[in-house]
Amino acid sequence: MNRHSLESSLKRSLAITVEDIHELVGNFHHDMKAGLGGKLSSLKMLPTFVDKPSGKEKGSFLALDFGGTNFRVLHVNLDGRGSARITHADKFVIPKAVMHGTGVQLFNFIAGSIRKFIEENLIGFEDKRKLGFTFSFPMKQTTVASGTLINWTKGFSATGVVGRDVVIRLKDSLKRCGLHHIDVAALANDTVGTMAAGSYKHPDCDVGIIFGTGTNACYREKRANITKLAKTMQRSGHMVINIEWGNFDKLPFTLYDERLDKSTNNPGRQRMEKMISGMYLGEVARLILSDLMRNKFIFAKSGGRFSKGDFKSRHMSMIEADRSRNLTKVKEYLEGVGILNTSLEERCLLKEICMMVSQRAARISAAAISAVISWMDPQLGSDHTIAIDGTLYEKYPDFRKTILATLKEIYGVKSKRLKLVIAKEGSGIGVAIVAAVAASQR
Ligand code: BGC
Repeated sequence: MNRHSLESSLKRSLAITVEDIHELVGNFHHDMKAGLGGKLSSLKMLPTFVDKPSGKEKGSFLALDFGGTNFRVLHVNLDGRGSARITHADKFVIPKAVMHGTGVQLFNFIAGSIRKFIEENLIGFEDKRKLGFTFSFPMKQTTVASGTLINWTKGFSATGVVGRDVVIRLKDSLKRCGLHHIDVAALANDTVGTMAAGSYKHPDCDVGIIFGTGTNACYREKRANITKLAKTMQRSGHMVINIEWGNFDKLPFTLYDERLDKSTNNPGRQRMEKMISGMYLGEVARLILSDLMRNKFIFAKSGGRFSKGDFKSRHMSMIEADRSRNLTKVKEYLEGVGILNTSLEERCLLKEICMMVSQRAARISAAAISAVISWMDPQLGSDHTIAIDGTLYEKYPDFRKTILATLKEIYGVKSKRLKLVIAKEGSGIGVAIVAAVAASQR
């Protein structure tokens, strides 16, 4: 096989065609329905026991935003007129040992960091403080202020948390740290926070999405459609549903996706996340690259190799952002990892591989967005604001552009009805809003 036939065969296997999109949307709807009815489904469709805010919520709240190797503690003021302001924010890094240690260690570390935040920002220990807790993992909720972890994702594995109520865990650790005055008023997935932040400002916002280390979405559903809820809960009104779309599993997988899946600590799970999100994109590209290197189609004379985890999404992002004629940044990067004397043609091929992988991710993302929208509004008869947070969407070259172009391909001019807005800090600010909604519901 020569380089051109190789490139076109790769392109074919990574392409997401219009037919693929239609098939994906149909399967997505099937799994949404099954999930809402409590049947076996790759989409968990988790009830959150909260509706979107009115925009009039007011007050000051603490927020804990936990969902990756970093977590944030914030103090947020809501003015009751659609504007939210972060007055203090600190970032904490979870040590690897804690990430994979015991649940008690993890929650003690979080509570200790909240104590530090309160002390350093002179927030005080006297008055009762309401805290919104963003927990960006799949959890089964029965109220807005409780939820049990269904399974870890994104490489986490702390023991003794799966199947337990994470709010009780957090409260216990807060008490151990002497933080008796903190009331955990709401628990929300990051998508739910993002949608709350979006709809606080934009009343027609009814979808929240994360494209970051992981990926997921939530949307506003009619309670009557959530048939797995107890009959008394299925009255009129709406509830936000956390789809957990990262686990969707009816997709055109390549052998690279299968290889990647097998190498993770959760094989068979989060299959869509493993094709889309920042945690995995680099590894998909690396598996392709390693294959090409083994067959001497690329870097045959250059030495060096990429081992598992060496090639990250941020490297892809840098490679795609290099618009110089000689791909100078790419050359420097390769030299830095011991791959020397590369030709421009090889560097172009590397860039091409990154583009194929990231554009496939963006096209699958657009297909999933259109599945959620067409579920809510089959004829696209109304405007919808979609609030999005996450570095992939914000920073990855052309990720956003490809999503928009694909939505246009799907909907034609009607795609103007979809407004995609960045809800920066959405998950942190949003959970403060969810806490305010919960307080008003009590
Ligand atoms: C989790 C979701 C979360 C998403 C984005 C996924 O791995 O399962 O709950 O919303 O990451 O953080």
